[in-house]
Amino acid sequence: MTGKWSPGSWRDRPIQQVPEYPDPQALARVEATLETYPPLVFAGEARRLRSQLAKVAAGQAFLLQGGDCAESFAEFHPNNIRDTFRVLLQMAVVMTFGAACPVLKVGRMAGQFAKPRSAPMEAKDGVELPSYRGDIVNGIEFAADRRVPDPERLLRAYNQAAATLNLLRAFAQGGFADLQKVHQWNLEFVADSPQGARYEELGTRIDEALAFMRACGINSDTVPQVSETDFYTSHEALLLPYEQALTRVDSLTGTWYDCSAHFLWIGDRTRQLDGAHVEFLRGVENPIGLKCGPSLDPDDLLRLIEALNPDNDPGRLTLIARMGAEQVEGRLPPLVRAVRQAGFEVVWSCDPMHGNTIKSSTGFKTRPFDRILAEVEGFFAVHRAEGTHAGGIHIEMTGQEVTECTGGAQAINDERLADRYHTHCDPRLNASQALELAFLIAARLKEERDGAAGRAVAAQ
Ligand code: PEP
Ligand code: CO
Repeated sequence: MTGKWSPGSWRDRPIQQVPEYPDPQALARVEATLETYPPLVFAGEARRLRSQLAKVAAGQAFLLQGGDCAESFAEFHPNNIRDTFRVLLQMAVVMTFGAACPVLKVGRMAGQFAKPRSAPMEAKDGVELPSYRGDIVNGIEFAADRRVPDPERLLRAYNQAAATLNLLRAFAQGGFADLQKVHQWNLEFVADSPQGARYEELGTRIDEALAFMRACGINSDTVPQVSETDFYTSHEALLLPYEQALTRVDSLTGTWYDCSAHFLWIGDRTRQLDGAHVEFLRGVENPIGLKCGPSLDPDDLLRLIEALNPDNDPGRLTLIARMGAEQVEGRLPPLVRAVRQAGFEVVWSCDPMHGNTIKSSTGFKTRPFDRILAEVEGFFAVHRAEGTHAGGIHIEMTGQEVTECTGGAQAINDERLADRYHTHCDPRLNASQALELAFLIAARLKEERDGAAGRAVAAQ
């Protein structure tokens, strides 16, 4: 994959998962409008994330990436943004404190609107309509007029992303993320659960540590990290007209950045080497991700890495494995080995959601929580065996008390899925399931670190 890149060079490549707009000129007008709008992120922020991801690649930090499967116009509400943000903060604090490992926080937020689909059409009661492709493309309601792709939705998505990002920045920098508030991040409905209680305990230990640090002169005046945090945004770069319209030259470096988010990834269905999505992302300087599903062959992965990260820059590429609990220990090792033997520097992250989707006996698309945990355990086991760093987690979650994934401490069963099943696409972890996962990861990260320390002592 070589040749001259431009923000529009993807248009000459074969493309998957593309909506059919009935009026291409209306789409072109919207693209022209978006091109005049301000970038949502600044290139310098994307560079900063990239350099922090290089630390993850080197085994010195962990990547926490999470949020909605699909953001929606209907669920756009400050409380939803706040609650997802605070569960991510809680997860990060559990891992940072439990494993003494810096955690990079990246939301699947402020732009995660477009969805790849397994079939272009959806049939119900003998009627066939185009599939729902996310609120940035068409409407979720099963009605002919709602399913027509509407370019105006790109503008609405942009505006929602801008407002979401604005609030996230305020939360991250304005005092909400202050470590002295760890107890307040615990959501009321979680506080009574075993995870919530465990979190409270940890919060008390953090309070003690902070009091000690204050006595030593370390406080938010002297160290801003006590009261502020870095928070980045990400989404799947699927709807390329939107991504192209927000791609700008960075005036400081003269290079291109997709300024719709800090981090963009290529989905498992659009990772063809000669395809439009790989072409587009190879040319922007953001840190990027690549979903790696069970059908990915090690040689194809190496070709993709060469195309996407020709300079072998350690923070550039995150490989997001989503194999499913049953396949992770069979499919992941050949990929990890091939990458290591080729000398490629990458971040390995685990998406334990997309390979574990099933249909419940009550007809809901769900994910058993124990399979999600099993895939994470498998992911850590593979990296332990290969001597590589289990670098991150990529999850679909929400701060709302939903019942979308079965299991967990509340033991949600097939019957209870109907209680609060709100997702616009895939089933998400609720806050207590997300916390439980965070405690598990913290324990595995600690083992990884202790193991590495043990090996270092043995080698002396
Ligand atoms: C997703 O992350 O929402 C998604 C569709 O994932 P994948 O491309 O791995 O199927
Ligand atoms: Co999903």
